[in-house]
Amino acid sequence: MRIVVLVSGSGTNLQAVIDAVKAGELDVEIAAVGSDVPGCLGLKRAADAGIATFTVPPADYASRPEWNRALQAAVAGYAPDLVLLAGFMRILDAEFVAAFDGRMVNTHPALLPSFPGAHGVRDALRHGVKVTGVTVHLVDSGVDTGPILAQAAVPVLESDTEEELHERIKVEERKLLVETLRKLSS
Ligand code: GRF
Repeated sequence: MRIVVLVSGSGTNLQAVIDAVKAGELDVEIAAVGSDVPGCLGLKRAADAGIATFTVPPADYASRPEWNRALQAAVAGYAPDLVLLAGFMRILDAEFVAAFDGRMVNTHPALLPSFPGAHGVRDALRHGVKVTGVTVHLVDSGVDTGPILAQAAVPVLESDTEEELHERIKVEERKLLVETLRKLSS
């Protein structure tokens, strides 16, 4: 299974996938890693692992549809079987989603359908839930609304800050993501 991974930030989920592939625990080929954020740590992790990288920053395009099309073309250029959004923090338009329909996976740091969007950890904490977690799901044209592939629960502690809770979620997220990719690849 050939995958292209899109990242916007620190790329620890990407690193978990890279490590699992290197360890022979995951039979996928990471064809390339792309980002909307030039110089982000996720791109550096990919480059350090000898993986091809590309950057498509929205600021380089006159409109959002043009940026979407450019990113879509860059991803399609690697002919992936699957596109993985691993901490990719921008919404892709319907055309992009349709191009990879049923072949695009996202990871979200909350138990969907609760707390979708960019602040799933903060929103769960503010709501006062006692259990939150992580969801790996297929991407559809909504925001974090696609069919759920896997979930893991994480207890919320009384003392939790957003950062502390997110870090504990990410420990489970990395495991669940690798496990889900393993199932998809087989
Ligand atoms: C993950 O929790 C992801 O679900 C969220 O942002 C975080 C990215 O972490 N959208 P990283 O870049 O993989 O370290």
